[in-house]
Amino acid sequence: MRVTGTGHASMRIDTAAGSILCDPWVNPAYFASWFPFPDNSLLDWETLGQVDYLYVSHLHRDHFDAAHLRDFVSKDATVLLPEFPTSEMEDELRALGFTKFLRAPNEQVVELDGGLKIMIQALTSPTDGPIGDSSLWVEHDGVRLLNQNDARPTDLTVFTELGHVHAHLLQFSGAIWYPMVYELPQAAKTAFGKQKRERQFDRTWRYIDDLKADHVFPIAGPPCFLDDTLWQFNDIHGDEGNIFPDQSVFLSEYAKVGGTNGIVLLPGSVAEVSTSGASTTHPQPVEEFFANKLAHLEEMRERKRPIIEAEKASWRHPEIDVLAGMKRRIEPLLDESVYLAKGVGGPVRFDLVGYDGVSVESIVVDFPGKEVRPYAEEKVRYRFRMERALIEHLLHIDEVDWVNSLFLSCRFSAARIGQYNEFVYAFFKCLSTERLQYAEGWYDEHERSTDAEDVTLGDWVVQRRCPHLKADLTRFGIVEGDQLTCQLHGWKFDLPSGRCLTSVGHKVRAHRATADTPTP
Ligand code: FES
Repeated sequence: MRVTGTGHASMRIDTAAGSILCDPWVNPAYFASWFPFPDNSLLDWETLGQVDYLYVSHLHRDHFDAAHLRDFVSKDATVLLPEFPTSEMEDELRALGFTKFLRAPNEQVVELDGGLKIMIQALTSPTDGPIGDSSLWVEHDGVRLLNQNDARPTDLTVFTELGHVHAHLLQFSGAIWYPMVYELPQAAKTAFGKQKRERQFDRTWRYIDDLKADHVFPIAGPPCFLDDTLWQFNDIHGDEGNIFPDQSVFLSEYAKVGGTNGIVLLPGSVAEVSTSGASTTHPQPVEEFFANKLAHLEEMRERKRPIIEAEKASWRHPEIDVLAGMKRRIEPLLDESVYLAKGVGGPVRFDLVGYDGVSVESIVVDFPGKEVRPYAEEKVRYRFRMERALIEHLLHIDEVDWVNSLFLSCRFSAARIGQYNEFVYAFFKCLSTERLQYAEGWYDEHERSTDAEDVTLGDWVVQRRCPHLKADLTRFGIVEGDQLTCQLHGWKFDLPSGRCLTSVGHKVRAHRATADTPTP
């Protein structure tokens, strides 16, 4: 089995029974904030796009690049489609000209022509990507590969049961706006960033240890930030709180925990994977590439500057009345929302900075009051500050997912009172009736489900499944003193009270191993 690195989470898998192109991403994403790193725009995409199968793991724009899919991927390719709860991905791909679809039943092996076998695991909670993320397992001629991508399944049992895996490709770096955009003292941001960086690596080690593949390929990040206003997010400034470590940092951190089977794929690297080993060729020595990272980024920044400038020029729509536009789009959804609105539980304020960089229009999405209105000097749960042009553009293009556009752009700052609130972001990624109804239904089911099994962790008896997204706490839970940390997403719980310290709600059931009565 041949695996060609094509940048970020993208790869082309070639076997004697057919080829699969995964997640090709080349054009900048999220308001021209994210670019693939290392640069993959100079690959021979005409040739790479001539494939038998296309697999897009989910709709995040660093995985689903509509323009690239339209222009470079053969429309004869059969799309291997994860079983997602909505038809959005299929609809979008059809609109780009794809006509052949294989809807892979969730977690079931499908045999394709020539003995090529695949299995897709679709994750479908509202917090998994934009309504879903997925992983692809491939087997041909006894060689097995798992493209876990940036998906975070609670465990990998469904794949280990299919036999020993030879190549495991997974995310290790950050892909979020936390903590950089928060209006916090620098020392606090560094401390939070450091914690997050460590957590990302811990989670990666855990998945690697679960699968025990012969070879581990760090993929799906980091992106690079080429706009001058975002340049500081690249991990080139010696900031230990930077959440975007690159593949060479992965190798050195992996070595510290005894990992010796890591393989970095640059765009154009080719790994031949067999049951007895892997041999890899690179377009240039990997160490040399990372030693010259700064020069690579600077050169890329100059080359991509016109693209960024052109994008920026397209965001302004002064004719749009933002308050009226937000009212029209959001108020009907506030009316429909039960769980998300209750979960947010307070007003969320948007401070929009005008074209002059000074004037500010302040708009509140009032979740309890179910209305969008001018800010009235009240206390708010969250405050976001950004250029008004960004919201104008979202309204102009009728964007239904402000996480998959605005928030991932990192082109804003934020402050909040109290804990992280996942419902705020879940709501703003569901700005359509279809998405909102799905998310509401999911939370409804989730809230009602009882999870009766308890396990003992240290001195505590706790419910086996994490109150966040049901990770198995026997694998992901760590108890230190009276505090439980679930390492899947790093959420913390105070065991004596059961209170979640990371987010609103999500209480854990726990009692001391010696006591009889569970915490109320
Ligand atoms: S499942 Fe997310 S923190 Fe436990």
